[in-house]
Amino acid sequence: MYSVIVWTLLLIVEVAFATPSKANSTFFNPILPGWHSDPSCVFVPEEDHTFFCLTSTFLVTPGIPIYASKDLVNWKLASHAFNRRSQFPRMNESSDQNDGIFAVTLRYHEGVFYAITVYSYRTGEGIFGLIFNTTDPYSNDAWSEPVAYDASGIDPDLFWHNNGKVYMASSGTILQTIDLSTGVVSAPVSIWNGTGGAYPEGPHIYHKDDYYYLMIGEGGTETNHSETIARSRNIDGPYESYEGNPILTARRTTNYFQTVGHADLFQDGNENWWAVALSTRSGPEWANYPMGRETVLTPVTWKEGEWPVVDSVHGEQRGWPLPKPNKKIGGSGPFLGDPDVVDFEPGSKLPAHFVTWRWPQDGTFAVSPPGHPNSLRLKPSKTVTPTDEDPLAGANGLSLLMRVQTDTLFTYTVDLSFNPKVLDEEAGVTIFLTQRQHLDLGVVMLPSSNNSLKLEPKLRFRTTGAGTTVGSLPQPVVKSIPEPWLKHPITLQIQAKNDTHYTFSVASIRDRGTTHVIGVAPATIVSGGTGPFTGSLVGVYATSNNGSGTTESYISRWRYTGDGQKIDYNRIVESKK
Ligand SMILES: *[C@@H]1O[C@H](CO)[C@@H](O)[C@H](O)[C@H]1NC(C)=O
Ligand SMILES: *[C@@H]1O[C@H](CO)[C@@H](O)[C@H](O)[C@H]1NC(C)=O
Ligand SMILES: *[C@@H]1O[C@H](CO)[C@@H](O)[C@H](O)[C@H]1NC(C)=O
Ligand SMILES: *[C@@H]1O[C@H](CO)[C@@H](O)[C@H](O)[C@H]1NC(C)=O
Ligand SMILES: *[C@@H]1O[C@H](CO)[C@@H](O)[C@H](O)[C@H]1NC(C)=O
Ligand SMILES: *[C@@H]1O[C@H](CO)[C@@H](O)[C@H](O)[C@H]1NC(C)=O
Ligand SMILES: *[C@@H]1O[C@H](CO)[C@@H](O)[C@H](O)[C@H]1NC(C)=O
Ligand SMILES: *[C@@H]1O[C@H](CO)[C@@H](O)[C@H](O)[C@H]1NC(C)=O
Repeated sequence: MYSVIVWTLLLIVEVAFATPSKANSTFFNPILPGWHSDPSCVFVPEEDHTFFCLTSTFLVTPGIPIYASKDLVNWKLASHAFNRRSQFPRMNESSDQNDGIFAVTLRYHEGVFYAITVYSYRTGEGIFGLIFNTTDPYSNDAWSEPVAYDASGIDPDLFWHNNGKVYMASSGTILQTIDLSTGVVSAPVSIWNGTGGAYPEGPHIYHKDDYYYLMIGEGGTETNHSETIARSRNIDGPYESYEGNPILTARRTTNYFQTVGHADLFQDGNENWWAVALSTRSGPEWANYPMGRETVLTPVTWKEGEWPVVDSVHGEQRGWPLPKPNKKIGGSGPFLGDPDVVDFEPGSKLPAHFVTWRWPQDGTFAVSPPGHPNSLRLKPSKTVTPTDEDPLAGANGLSLLMRVQTDTLFTYTVDLSFNPKVLDEEAGVTIFLTQRQHLDLGVVMLPSSNNSLKLEPKLRFRTTGAGTTVGSLPQPVVKSIPEPWLKHPITLQIQAKNDTHYTFSVASIRDRGTTHVIGVAPATIVSGGTGPFTGSLVGVYATSNNGSGTTESYISRWRYTGDGQKIDYNRIVESKK
C-alpha cells in the first residue's frame, strides 16, 4: 500500500517534469541580419552549451566570421577563421568580384572545430580546397593555416563515420574520404544528382535512426532555390530521394523572404531540431535586396525513422522553445545588432566586425596616428573601380573600411577631416556591394567653379553601377563647400529611411542637427548585378581616382545605428539594440 502511494507520487512528479514546461517560441528572422550567406551551424554542449554559426565571405577580409550564441537570438562575433594574408596569399590574383571564400561547413569533432571551404577563381583557374581548424573558436590567432586539398566540387561538407573514416561530400553530389591533417582525398564518386534542379550544391550528411541523410540545395541560389533530401542505409548509397521534396523552399510563393535554401540542420540542448538557411528579403519580384542573402532559422520536426519536416521561413517565426536569453559568451567581438560608437581612441584596435575587400596594404589604416588622436587615418588607394581592361585594379589593397549593413533602416555618420592638394583626390562614405557597384559621397579636389586654373575641395555624390539592371543611374551631384565649413571636419551621413533608397547628406560639425541632402540613390543599384552573392557594406574610402594624389584623410566619430528591420511587406520591427 505504502509503496503504491510512493510510486503514484513518483509518477505524478515524472509526468510533471516530462510535460514541456515551456511553450513554443516566437522570434524574428533573419537571425543573422545583413549579408550572411550560406550559413552552417553546430551546437556544442562541450563548449558551455553554445551554438556556433559561420557564413561565406567571398572577397571580404577578415573572412568566415564565427558567431556564437547561447539562445539562438543573441549572436556574438567570436572570431574569423580566415584572418591573415598567409592563409591564402593569392587572393590578390582574383579578378572576378565573386571570387573568394565560397560556402563553408562548420563542424566540431572531439574538441576541434573545422571550417572546410573552397577558394574559387571563377576566371578559369579553378577551386582550391581549404580546411581551417581550431580548438579555441574565440581567438583569431588560434585558427590554423589551412590544410589544402584537391577539390572536386564546391560547398564541401564533413562527416565522421563510425568506421573511423572522415567523408567529404561536395556539390554534384560527390563523395570522397579525406585526411584532415594532410588533405589527401580518395577518388570522387557521384552519389546523388538531386531531383533535377539546377546546381545541386551545399550538401550535408547526417546520421539518424540507421540512415545516412543527404540534404542539398537545388535550383540555384536565386528565386528557384530549394532544399531536397535523400537517404541510404550506406554512406556510399544508393540514395533514395524523398517523395515529398523539396523539404524547404520559397519558390513560387509570394513570401517576402525568398531564395530560401542552402540549409544546415542541428539539434539544441533539448534535442529539438532546427534548420538555418539563406534567404533574401525581396518578395518574388527579387529586384530590391541590397542586404543580399541573410541567415534565417526555422524549426524542424524529425520523428524517428521519418523524413524531417521543415517549417517555411517567415519574418515572425514560430518554433521550439528557445533557450533562456543569455549573453554570457566569450570573446571580445560585438553582438550583431550592437550600434557602432567608434572613436578610434589611442591604443584601441579596429573593431572586430570592420572589413575590407581583399587584404589592404600595410599602413592603409592607422588608429590615432601621431598628432591625430581619436581618428582613423586613411592612405588613399589608386582606385576603387576596376575597368574591363584592368580588372585587377585595387586587387593589391583598397583604402576601404566597412561594416555589414545589418538593418533595413539605419543611420550612419562619420566626421571627415581632409585637405586635398591634388586634382581628383577624394575621401568619403560609401554603400558598397562590389568594386563595380557602389554609391559614394565624398570630398574631392576639383577645378574651381569660378577659375578653372584653381582647384578647390567640393562635395560629390556619385554612383557606380555597371552590371545592374536598374536603367539609368542618378547623375553625379557636385556642390561647393560653404567657406566656413572648410576649417573643420565635415559630417557625412548615409541614411536608409525606407527600404528602397539611400539618402546621402552633409552637416557642419558645429550644427550636426542641420543636415543638407546631397543625393538620393535607389537600393537596386546595389542589389545583384556583379554582386549576386554579396550584400551591402557601409563605410569609408579614400582614393586618388587614378591620379597622383597621396594626401591622407582622417575619420572620426564613426556611428552606425539600426533604425528598423523590415520583416514583411507592411511590417517593420525595431532593430536589435
Ligand atoms: C600578390 O601579392 C604578392 C605579395 O603579397 C605579390 O608578390 C604579387 O605580385 C601580387 N600579385 C599580383 C597579381 O598583383
Ligand atoms: C589543423 O591544421 C594544421 C595545419 O595548419 C594541421 O597540421 C593539423 O593536423 C590540423 N589538425 C587537425 C586536428 O586536423
Ligand atoms: C549523376 O549524373 C552523372 C552525369 O549524368 C552520372 O555520371 C552519375 O552516374 C549520376 N549519379 C548518380 C548517383 O546517379
Ligand atoms: C526558375 O525556373 C524556371 C523553370 O525552370 C525558369 O524558367 C526560370 O528562369 C528560373 N528562374 C531563375 C531565376 O533561375
Ligand atoms: C512547436 O513547434 C514545433 C516545430 O514547428 C511543432 O512541431 C510543434 O507541433 C509545436 N508545438 C505546439 C504545441 O504548437
Ligand atoms: C589608370 O591610369 C592608367 C594610366 O593612365 C590607365 O592605364 C589605367 O587603365 C587606369 N586605370 C583605371 C582603373 O582607371
Ligand atoms: C564663385 O562665383 C559665385 C558667383 O558667380 C560666388 O557666389 C562664389 O562665392 C564664388 N566662389 C568662390 C570660391 O570664389
Ligand atoms: C524612400 O525614401 C526616398 C528618399 O528619402 C524617397 O525619395 C522615396 O520617395 C521614399 N519611398 C517611399 C515609398 O516612401
